[in-house]
Amino acid sequence: MQKTISPASSVSGSITLPGDKSVSHRYAMIASIADGPTTIHNYSTGADCHSTLGCVRALGIDVEGSGTDFVIHGRGLDGLREAAGDLDAGNSGSTIRMISGILAGQPFRSRLIGDESLSRRPMQRIMTPLTQMGAQLSARDGKFPPLEIHGAPLRPIHYDLPVPSAQVKTCVLFGGLFAEGETSVTEPVRSRDHTEIALREFGADLTTISVPGNLAARKITVVGRPHLTGREVMVPSDISSASFFLVAALLVPGSKLSIAGVGLNPTRSALLDFLIGMGAKIRIPSLESVNGELIGEIVVEYSELKGGTVDGGLTAALIDEIPVLAVLGAATRDGITIRDASELRIKETDRIATIVENFKRMGIPTEELPDGLIVPGQQRFRAANFDSFGDHRIGMAFGVAALRGDGDSTIDGADAASISFPEFWDTLASISR
Ligand code: S3P
Repeated sequence: MQKTISPASSVSGSITLPGDKSVSHRYAMIASIADGPTTIHNYSTGADCHSTLGCVRALGIDVEGSGTDFVIHGRGLDGLREAAGDLDAGNSGSTIRMISGILAGQPFRSRLIGDESLSRRPMQRIMTPLTQMGAQLSARDGKFPPLEIHGAPLRPIHYDLPVPSAQVKTCVLFGGLFAEGETSVTEPVRSRDHTEIALREFGADLTTISVPGNLAARKITVVGRPHLTGREVMVPSDISSASFFLVAALLVPGSKLSIAGVGLNPTRSALLDFLIGMGAKIRIPSLESVNGELIGEIVVEYSELKGGTVDGGLTAALIDEIPVLAVLGAATRDGITIRDASELRIKETDRIATIVENFKRMGIPTEELPDGLIVPGQQRFRAANFDSFGDHRIGMAFGVAALRGDGDSTIDGADAASISFPEFWDTLASISR
């Protein structure tokens, strides 16, 4: 699908966004191994989270509901059944990597497949710890989906994460639920902690401590064989989806936007600090805690920004927001430099390459680095023919760039937005004046 986006003279109004993708996946997976029903409100409408629901159903779990409210009839730690066929994770790295932790502890074999993009994404990062725990895993060329898992009685391990990945951390902690004793994971920098919060909400015994000598690192320990109980939970709206609208308002002079009910978990909200640090006028008029997750309203106004650098632990904290931050960088005074982001090369697309290519189409000369890019500031946003390259965040980021264009732009493969945010183009149209 190709979308045409006209320049906006301002971006304004009040919007609500779909449920957080990361939290939705975790609630659905944990609910399926909890005892009794879990009601999930504001479940993500994105295709990725529906891939998770499909996998959970294929494992014998009843899932009722539609739209954004679902009831998952969990059958306890030992209640999953062998799927009749392959488990299809679609485009979703979170689905395949996180559910593998659960599947590793089952007394049956599972085979996980995905679309073309997922079939090129590396799985060794989860195969290594799950093999240490006692499961048997094999994959195409030893690393790519299809991924076959022969579950086994797992043993607890301590695992030092070689990459700061919340998906891998979650996979190991999920495996730890099926191992007698304590399983722990040390992460070099703090990654999103929705798994830790959700597991505690459902009744697991889980602790997080800081690591002596490394302020950024955390050690998380879960006690195996917990009794998880189904419950009612509410998914916050997705701050990564909000990032597109924050940037839209910051790009187009005269804009003012309010976004309700956004998840503001501190391991996800580094974006707001970074934007405020560059001079963005952003307020949080209300804040509350729901199921252990912070939720608040964000009000943003057009602001002239300095520019800045994203590197080290900040890169890990902003990893999903980098495409749209790069777009914003071109409108700042000094530009934005992104480093330590080689993980971007193994996302849904090689995001460094796909960002650079779309900038090229606007006539903006970015410098591509092995682990990032340098986006010059004070650039003119020329109208262009953009391409999502099948990557939701790339399509949405350049859809936002088009609002500041000097004419109509087109985005090829705009339907990729439906992976995390099917309502994206309608919401964008509703606030563009
Ligand atoms: C996610 C973790 C991140 C992120 C992805 C969602 C999660 O991936 O990019 O969109 O929900 O845990 P990594 O674990 O590969 O960093």
